[in-house]
Amino acid sequence: MTIANDITELRHYQQEVARLDRLHLIGEMSAGIGHEIRNPMTTVRGFLQLLGGKDRYARDKAYIDLMLEELDRVNAIITEFLSLAKDKPVEKKIRSLNHKIRTIFPLLRADAMKQGKNIEMELADLPYITIDENEIKQLILNLVRNGLEAMPPGGQLTIKTFQSNGEAVLAVQDQGTGIAPEVLEKIGTPFFTTKDQGTGLGLAVCYSIVQRHNARINIKTGAAGTTFYVSFKVNQVGLEPE
Ligand SMILES: Nc1ncnc2c1ncn2[C@@H]1O[C@H](COP(=O)(O)OP(=O)(O)OP(=O)(O)O)[C@@H](O)[C@H]1O
Ligand SMILES: [Mg+2]
Repeated sequence: MTIANDITELRHYQQEVARLDRLHLIGEMSAGIGHEIRNPMTTVRGFLQLLGGKDRYARDKAYIDLMLEELDRVNAIITEFLSLAKDKPVEKKIRSLNHKIRTIFPLLRADAMKQGKNIEMELADLPYITIDENEIKQLILNLVRNGLEAMPPGGQLTIKTFQSNGEAVLAVQDQGTGIAPEVLEKIGTPFFTTKDQGTGLGLAVCYSIVQRHNARINIKTGAAGTTFYVSFKVNQVGLEPE
């Protein structure tokens, strides 16, 4: 006689908890360290710029410009890292998710077209949800960029919204090659990346935003592509946006 227990679900929860733990720790550290690094960097950048303007450094102007660019890049990464801070203030308002998607769609389309890829919207009627608009924009951008980066030219990315079990769901679906199990496990860990040019902060930021919105991320992935689902709780009936 044999007994078989399906522990897929259990494993899934364990993974989610581990992911949240990592995020929590990073969130605590990021605020403190970020500021400590940024302040001296601002001084260095200021003096570098000052020197770059002097005649006696004219010959080395190209190097100075390169150093300034690199400092700006570091600064941009720190800015992204800081947005993982646990107690980052958010300004949540009652908003239409579909409206938010429509406003940033032209930007996304431009991004996709530059890479020779397609992007479509399939938006269903949705109740209002309570969101921080900037954070939701960042969330959509990060998911869409990953989807686009996962596909060869000609691929199609679809942004969908629908209702399910009383929740408003945002889905970002790509036709990429899917995510391998060993990658899936580490996804959302800050600085985890499989890309040459990647920073590995995109999904960490997404998980942190989703956490601040009491929402959930589910991932469906296979040979035909990957879909990221973000489920938001819906407001009580009758609430309207300001
Ligand atoms: N839609 C997707 N299809 C396939 N792999 C994905 C997808 N989204 C994420 N990944 C995998 O997860 C890893 C982490 O993604 P994440 O967005 O956090 O970082 P990144 O895209 O590598 O770098 P960054 O977003 O900072 O530029 C990616 O390197 C990639 O391997
Ligand atoms: Mg990314």
